[in-house]
Amino acid sequence: MLHTLSVPIIQAPMAGGVSTPALAAAVSEAGGLGFLAGGYKTAEEMRKEIATLRALTDQPFGVNVFVPGEDDADEKAVRRYKEVLEEEAKRLGVSLGEPKWDDDDWEAKLTVLYEEKVPVVSFTFGCPSSKIISKLQDNGSFVIVTVTSKTEAQIAAGQGADVLCVQGPEAGGHRATFRNDETADENVSLLVLLQQIREAVDLPLIAAGGIMHGRNIAAVLAAGACAAQLGTAFLRCPESGASPLHKNALIDPQFQATAVTRAFTGRPARGLVNRFLTEYDAFAPAAYPHIHHMTKPLRSVAAKANDPQMMSLWAGQGHRLARNMPAQELVRELMKEMEEAVQGLIRK
Ligand SMILES: Cc1cc2nc3c(=O)[nH]c(=O)nc-3n(C[C@H](O)[C@H](O)[C@H](O)COP(=O)(O)O)c2cc1C
Repeated sequence: MLHTLSVPIIQAPMAGGVSTPALAAAVSEAGGLGFLAGGYKTAEEMRKEIATLRALTDQPFGVNVFVPGEDDADEKAVRRYKEVLEEEAKRLGVSLGEPKWDDDDWEAKLTVLYEEKVPVVSFTFGCPSSKIISKLQDNGSFVIVTVTSKTEAQIAAGQGADVLCVQGPEAGGHRATFRNDETADENVSLLVLLQQIREAVDLPLIAAGGIMHGRNIAAVLAAGACAAQLGTAFLRCPESGASPLHKNALIDPQFQATAVTRAFTGRPARGLVNRFLTEYDAFAPAAYPHIHHMTKPLRSVAAKANDPQMMSLWAGQGHRLARNMPAQELVRELMKEMEEAVQGLIRK
C-alpha cells in the first residue's frame, strides 16, 4: 500500500489535538500519508475526526491508537510523586488529577476502526494480537506496528503486521516501547536501529525520529526504509493543532535542548527541556497513564496562563529546523530537497 504513495512521507500521528484532520488531509492530498491520532480521545471523537477528514480528502489516510498496558503501577511511587507535586498544584490553585489507569477506550476504538474501514491503522505502545491484526487486514486495513528495538520488531512480525514503523530515540513525543519499563535500546540511533531490524525481519520499514529535511529522508530511504514518518517537522504548519506557545517554543533560543522524561505522563517522552521537566524528572515513576491523568490539571492551567515552563512541549531532537509553512508546501519542499540530495550523490 505504501508503494502506491507518490511521496514517501508520512505525517506522524500526534495526539493531544496536534494532528488535525486539516493537517492529515493536506499531507494526503500532497501525495504522502496523513494520520489522525486516536490517543486520549473517546472512540466517538475519533469517529467524528475520521468523518471530518473524509469530507476533506478522498486520498488514503491512517489512524493511530495506543495499545493499553497492564495496570501494574507502583502505588507507593505514584503517591510519593503526588506529594512532590502537591506544592506546585497549590501554587497554581488547582487540584492534581486522580492517578488512575484506563485502556483509552481500546475495544470501542477497534470497533470504530472496523466499522469505518480505515485504510491504514497504526499501533503504538504495544503489539495487538494476531487475531486483531488479521481481522483488520481481512476488513481491508493495512496494519503498521511502531517498534523501538529488534525484539519488538520480531514480535510485531510474528503477530502479522504489514509494516513496522521504526522509531529512533531522536523522536519527539512518547517512546513507543511495548513495555513502560523498557530502556535497553534508548541510545541506539535511528540509522543503526534500521539496520539491526532490517537484518532481523523481512518487512517494509518506515523510519521515524529527527527527520526534518529532505536530505534526512534520502538518508533513511538509502538505509532501507520505504518511507519517512515526520512529526516535529509538521508541528509549526498552520494546519497543526499545536498551541501557538508550543509552536514558538520550538524555535525559541531559551529552549535549546530536548530530553526524554516520565515527568508529565509516567511514560518516557521527548520534549523541550523546561522547568517542570528539570525539577520533576527524577521523581516520576513508570506509571502510565496514571501520571498523565495526575498532571493534566497542572498542564491545562499552565497552557491557559501561557507558561511554557510547566507544559509538555513534545519535540524531536531536530526541533529548531521546524518550518512555519503550509503542510502541502512543506511536503513539496522536502521532496525537492530529497531529490537534490540524491542527484548530488549520483554526480559524486
Ligand atoms: C507532539 C507529538 C505527539 C505525538 N503523538 C504520537 C501519537 O499519538 N502516536 C504515535 O504513534 N506517535 C506519536 N508521536 C511520535 C511520532 O509518531 C513520531 O515517532 C515522531 O514524531 C518522530 O520524530 P520527530 O518528531 O523527530 O519527527 C508524537 C510526536 C510528537 C512530536
